[in-house]
Amino acid sequence: MLNNRKAIEVYGLNFQYPDTKESALKDINFSVDYGEILGIIGPTGAGKSTLAMCINGLVPQVIQGDLVGEVFVKGMDVNEGNVAKMSEHVGFVFQEPENQLSQMTVEEEVAFGIGNLGVPREQMEGRIKDALKQVGLTGFEKRSPLALSGGQQQRLAIASVLAMNPTILIMDEPTSMLDPKGKNEVYDVLKSLKERGMTGIIIDHEVERIAEYCDKVLVLSEGQIQMFGPPNEVFSKIEHLHQLTMHAPQVTECLHQFNEQFNKDVKLSTNVEESARFLENAYKSI
Ligand SMILES: Nc1ncnc2c1ncn2[C@@H]1O[C@H](COP(=O)(O)OP(=O)(O)O)[C@@H](O)[C@H]1O
Ligand SMILES: [Mg+2]
Repeated sequence: MLNNRKAIEVYGLNFQYPDTKESALKDINFSVDYGEILGIIGPTGAGKSTLAMCINGLVPQVIQGDLVGEVFVKGMDVNEGNVAKMSEHVGFVFQEPENQLSQMTVEEEVAFGIGNLGVPREQMEGRIKDALKQVGLTGFEKRSPLALSGGQQQRLAIASVLAMNPTILIMDEPTSMLDPKGKNEVYDVLKSLKERGMTGIIIDHEVERIAEYCDKVLVLSEGQIQMFGPPNEVFSKIEHLHQLTMHAPQVTECLHQFNEQFNKDVKLSTNVEESARFLENAYKSI
């Protein structure tokens, strides 16, 4: 039954690109519940993009190599279906917004994505309108995608994917090419999608945002899962993160520094208000 399956289940996943010596992914096991947002972090080359592409079948169906293990989306074996079929269930947003846009107007851009799904013509308009509304681009229908800001372009890329009504949204470093305003715009969209119950995976280097917006965090390094759990738990393992050349959110790092300097044991948190309270109490005892 679909009911007792998770949204995403990955079992014993190994993947090796052709003509490489080492596997890009090594014995990956994790699952994502419906309605959860998972953040994936890790150094460059860790295998984050490869892992994300295994979840919609792009790896190994389009980008080939040796895959061992199983990936299920909504209880369906990803490698028994094809990528086009999967795109109805898993939407994928990439790093560079311009590369994902090809049409003359914003509304054509959104229509383009659903064009191949066989959506009846009378439903198209409603779907486009709804998708643009979800990313705050209502009123931009006739604009050229190229004339939009980076943040708007990325929101348009998200709208194009949302119009296909996916259950799961995967975003691979969607904000790394954007200015701070654009980053905020994309995270605002993620937040409202989460409130509507979307299941998602976001890959990002910004640990503050990952801690704030994600239910769980998966830390990947050299193709292996190093940590997997709620943000507070993962980001409390600061020394382990440092060993992996990574870091926790600034506020968590600050508490850690305090502990080191004053030989204290203040509980680490990723939440700014909570951390301030912890610190305030701890200061009284110095
Ligand atoms: N098409 C490819 N062919 C061969 N090796 C690749 C290919 N794509 C990625 N890799 C290698 O696989 C590893 C993981 O890459 P990637 O998934 O892109 O990591 P990340 O997204 O964490 O930076 C890296 O060592 C990278 O060089
Ligand atoms: Mg990548």
